[in-house]
Amino acid sequence: MSARAQIGVTGLAVMGRNLARNFARHGYTVAVHNRSYAKTESLIADHGTDGDFIPSESMKDFVASLAQPRKVVIMVKAGGPTDAVIQELIPLLDEGDIVIDAGNAHFPDTRRREAELKEHGLHFVGTGVSGGEEGALNGPSIMPGGSKESYEWLGPILEDISAKVDGVPCCTYVGSDGAGHFVKMVHNGIEYADMQLIAEAYDLLKQGLGASAKEIGEIFAEWNKGDLESFLIEITADVLQHVDAETGSAFVDIILDRAEQKGTGRWTVQNALDLGVPITGIAEATFARALSGSVPQRTAANGVLEAHAGTWEVTDREAFIEDVRLALYASKVVAYSQGFDQIAAASEEFGWDIDRGAMARIWRGGCIIRARFLNRITEAYERDANLPLLLADEYFVSAVGHGVSAWRRIVAQAALNGVPTPAFASSLSYYDGVRADRLPANLIQAQRDFFGAHTYQRTDKAGVFHTEWSLDRSESTES
Ligand SMILES: NC(=O)c1ccc[n+]([C@@H]2O[C@H](COP(=O)([O-])OP(=O)(O)OC[C@H]3O[C@@H](n4cnc5c(N)ncnc54)[C@H](OP(=O)(O)O)[C@@H]3O)[C@@H](O)[C@H]2O)c1
Repeated sequence: MSARAQIGVTGLAVMGRNLARNFARHGYTVAVHNRSYAKTESLIADHGTDGDFIPSESMKDFVASLAQPRKVVIMVKAGGPTDAVIQELIPLLDEGDIVIDAGNAHFPDTRRREAELKEHGLHFVGTGVSGGEEGALNGPSIMPGGSKESYEWLGPILEDISAKVDGVPCCTYVGSDGAGHFVKMVHNGIEYADMQLIAEAYDLLKQGLGASAKEIGEIFAEWNKGDLESFLIEITADVLQHVDAETGSAFVDIILDRAEQKGTGRWTVQNALDLGVPITGIAEATFARALSGSVPQRTAANGVLEAHAGTWEVTDREAFIEDVRLALYASKVVAYSQGFDQIAAASEEFGWDIDRGAMARIWRGGCIIRARFLNRITEAYERDANLPLLLADEYFVSAVGHGVSAWRRIVAQAALNGVPTPAFASSLSYYDGVRADRLPANLIQAQRDFFGAHTYQRTDKAGVFHTEWSLDRSESTES
């Protein structure tokens, strides 16, 4: 077997198969392998003409077909299967070879694997890949971590097969060890928030206007021509206008209202709690999915809990639609602002030195959250790479500020009329919280000192203080 493949893919289910085809279509010689040989055979039978593939039945032959330094992309089920494939590969590889995990790994696993492979003299590149099966085939957004040295070998190939926006590849080096998978995780968290916000906007239009799914779909199609232009808004317009062939009803009206999840939203929220970063939009979106699936609780509450709610009377249809649009845009900026705060905090914690503007740039195409306004985020970080709050960038101050009154009207009316808007409302609360002169955290500090001697700081002088609450209430200072 001649070792001539420039890249290899092991794991040829929907994602690996399409990624291998993408490499081949870009002129690379691609070694392909799958645990069960049938998937390899079917790739060659169905798409062998896409380019130059070298199929192998055994992992040994697969590795032998790769030119050095070998570049092996693992695209198998995340978790145990990825570890199993890595262990199979280690004895077959040589120092300097590069193992790329392009699955949806949890970033602490990537950090562990990177450290282990380093001991064997191997590069391990945890790589986020977004865009689903369509993206894998035609150009995904790619977020590689690992060593900078490995990116010199790998970067040109990955940039080549990634999506392009204005000729710029949606792929860049993210940072060492688990940085790539971390950023992909936050990307997915933002995707949860974006989807929940869109769902709330749909519900508001439905409840406020009594509009049909088709009519709401037309509104979303219109919104997609402006600031909100994005893949998710575009598919929402499409899905809402789709008719169920069996019943003739609007497709969305026959779908059970229970949202599922694969866990990346949960990981994002868990990590944000560890880092102490408020990502309320993503958290509310994750919990909203959990609430939708809380069947016993929903059954116990339905028709029992009192609403005392008004009925929505919209007098100016166009003004209401514009209010919902502005509230959606503002809430969406909050979700991104929070997600970028989380990236900054993790970058600091793990020494990744992540360029947030570059992350917004590689999310402009190929991935699920691709959107016109990501250009604005890149510009904001170009103006100030250390921007402490995306919302405080001059562009977003004005863009969100323009919609604040509408946002308040929508959240207030939704509350009065009993329509749940967890992501809209929590985003507005965050906005008011982060801009507040003074928060009620002073009282919390006083309570903590009262029951636990946890101390407090004062507004009028420096130092750390404690009051003897159960004695004479005298104040002491800690050095
Ligand atoms: N689907 C998406 O839209 C999407 C998007 C982004 C990222 N991802 C990630 O991409 C990865 C691949 O996704 P997918 O949907 O294509 O496939 P998948 O259903 O997650 O996994 C199936 C693949 O894993 C292999 N596999 C399972 N257990 C194995 C083991 N113990 N040893 C070796 N191989 C094993 C299977 O081989 P056999 O054929 O032999 O069973 C098959 O090739 C996952 O990490 C996924 O989370 C998926």
